[in-house]
Amino acid sequence: MIKKKLYFLFVILLTASFFGCSVYRNTQKQLIAENFSVAAQQYDKMLEVATDLTKYPRGSAKDGTLRYVGINDWTGGFWPGILWYMFEYTGDAKWRATAEKWTASLESNQFNTSHHDIGFMMYDSYGNGYRLTHNEAYKPILIQSAKSLMKRYSPVAGSIQSWNKKKSVGGKNTWEFPVIIDNMMNLELLFFASKITGDNSYRDAAIKHAETTMKNHVRPDYSSYHVVSYDPATGAVKYRQAAQGFSDNSTWARGQSWGIYGFTVAYRETKDKRFLQTAQGMADFFLNHKKLPSDKVPLWDFNVGEAGYVPDWKFDPNQYQPIPRDASAAAITSSALLELSKYVDEAHAKTYKQAAIAMIQSLSSPAYRAEPGSNNYFMLKNSVGSFPANAEVNSPLVYADYYFLEALLRLKKLQD
Ligand code: GLY
Repeated sequence: MIKKKLYFLFVILLTASFFGCSVYRNTQKQLIAENFSVAAQQYDKMLEVATDLTKYPRGSAKDGTLRYVGINDWTGGFWPGILWYMFEYTGDAKWRATAEKWTASLESNQFNTSHHDIGFMMYDSYGNGYRLTHNEAYKPILIQSAKSLMKRYSPVAGSIQSWNKKKSVGGKNTWEFPVIIDNMMNLELLFFASKITGDNSYRDAAIKHAETTMKNHVRPDYSSYHVVSYDPATGAVKYRQAAQGFSDNSTWARGQSWGIYGFTVAYRETKDKRFLQTAQGMADFFLNHKKLPSDKVPLWDFNVGEAGYVPDWKFDPNQYQPIPRDASAAAITSSALLELSKYVDEAHAKTYKQAAIAMIQSLSSPAYRAEPGSNNYFMLKNSVGSFPANAEVNSPLVYADYYFLEALLRLKKLQD
């Protein structure tokens, strides 16, 4: 009798958990579908207004109009990347045709050696295009892009130089060989180039760059410096500073996101546990931070205005109140966490997945997602480009949309 009762209880629990899971899955499916429907409405309009293939939609200008940038800007690959993600979700040839057109507009960038951002520019456009269509014509362009990026690699510093020589923010120092944490995002292009050419030199440089970043940008508590500038002659660290963050010792939210994402990719490509540990440490720092708001969309810097954090630039705490959030950092982190969740034990996987879904839910709410027809036809509001430069504060940003769509697609794939 007792055995029978236990059996019934077991069956009831199993059924409830099955229906519970499927309700949960359906809710997520709806969330994804609804976001792609809003995306289609926004980007249809964007395609109507953004018709000049030499002007890439980036965000909003100070006067509230749509801000475009030229081909040399680091963000040019995100708009074609968005169009590829629209094609990936819908399978609609219309999106493919527009993605192809905008991707082709970037072709001459394969020779761009003026900064490190060629990975963002070419892998998000041509890389996604190659992944989805296997268009052989994209391959040599991606290989040349990797070759151009390698021109900025120094074996002495063990790093790819991000920016050319420049003054630090506030002018205190001169950075001769500045490397920013964002540069971890360019490594995927190098890993790809090695896989398709069989030439390991790209991959070796990517691994060395990741090791150097792990050593010099990541602090013992897994927070991060934005900029590390090296002595190009010896490879010694000269300065550890901020550029878009609050102060040299603070943690710029999007920088932390680039680190989580970049070290997750480095682990995917190498299976080196040190990179996994770094990705997890950086993710845990982000998620467990006492200043992370309950909707999990971070302040633009984790330490803004905090005692002990002194900026090199003039900060007026009253200029923007409440302290602006950075939706782009949440979008990047949610996408990274969904990938990271595949490489860790069950308990961590659950934590990362739940946090990513919470971020996606917040970004889908009216606080962050624009009403169709508004926001210059971007999906997300409330990102911060560079607070110290007073640029793009509480603004849409094309890369926030790109990583948001990527996160939605990753969530869909995890469900499927
Ligand atoms: N890579 C520049 C930025 O994240 O703003």
